[in-house]
Amino acid sequence: MERQPVYILGIESSCDDTAAAVLADGKMLANVVAGQEVHRNWGGVVPELASRAHQQHIVPVVDEALRQAKISKQDLHAIAYTRGPGLLGSLLVGGSFAKGLAQGLNIPLIEVNHMQAHILAHFIDGEQAAPHFPFLCLTVSGGHTQIVRVNSPLEMEVLGETRDDAAGEAFDKVAKVLGLPYPGGPMVDQLAQLGNPHRFQFPEPKADGFDFSFSGLKTSFLYLVRDEMKKDATFMEKNMNDLCASVQHTIVQILIKKLLAAAKATHIHTLALAGGVSANKGLRSAMEDLKEKGYQVHIPPFAYCTDNAAMIAITGLFKFKEGIFASNDEGSLARFPLGS
Ligand code: KG4
Ligand code: ZN
Repeated sequence: MERQPVYILGIESSCDDTAAAVLADGKMLANVVAGQEVHRNWGGVVPELASRAHQQHIVPVVDEALRQAKISKQDLHAIAYTRGPGLLGSLLVGGSFAKGLAQGLNIPLIEVNHMQAHILAHFIDGEQAAPHFPFLCLTVSGGHTQIVRVNSPLEMEVLGETRDDAAGEAFDKVAKVLGLPYPGGPMVDQLAQLGNPHRFQFPEPKADGFDFSFSGLKTSFLYLVRDEMKKDATFMEKNMNDLCASVQHTIVQILIKKLLAAAKATHIHTLALAGGVSANKGLRSAMEDLKEKGYQVHIPPFAYCTDNAAMIAITGLFKFKEGIFASNDEGSLARFPLGS
């Protein structure tokens, strides 16, 4: 008799995207993401509005994922959900829904760490193209910036992280100074393509070891724009592309320098990228350039870079294979350190 594939439903609701995905033996059948327009006018994610929008989206998003996967909920073998880190109210919506559905279907519930899931996104759709263990992953998102030593799917160690702002936050904050809509990262990236990355220089941040710091960069960017605008009110408008290109170049250099230092110290030559900022063209091309230095470089497809539920489902599959299941009593965690 033919073996049935393992169907896992993933649910992600840690920030402002409500997402559901279905994987069959790790292959993506559906990957549905509903963004939230309600935050646009506020220049950032408003937690209370986010949890209300998750409540509205969760049922249609899960329905749509099952419809696209052409399976019914009775076919599912397990449900994986994001336990943290993230906005507590948002996490609670996805978590409560996952618990209720798993209980109703009488199938296992699997809790997932969002940061671990960003890294394991490399394993969606099979392991051929995935990085070999051990590898170093640079995880860059709106809330986190980490260099992680990945020994196996379920064994990860944080070697360095940001002391203040995350890389995505740095992009979003400079975008705000430039009057660009939230989230500003993709827009800065787009305008940077047209500008000169060497036009403006910013001081190098001071952070020990493999840690990062981005708050100083944001401040010097703000001061540069403010001071130049006093001399010429059209400065920002005239130099928009060069400002974006220069600040993007600086952020990318900070990230790559620390990643290379960690690679040298650990003698690990397999490098991977994860998180929303890995969609950035400048960062992707700087990573590609490392191939010439003898590194194996892994960059996830765009759809798996930003928040999605396929990454939650693949992490769920690794835990499913090990029989690591969660109980309904485990609460969502706004802070959830990797490896804890
Ligand atoms: O991983 P993610 O989708 O959500 C979090 O877990 O935070 O990352 C979102 C972050 C935002 O800060 C956004 O501005 C940034 O990723 N981002 C980008 C680009 N696309 C998304 N930053 C720079 N360039 C991009 N192309
Ligand atoms: Zn994320």
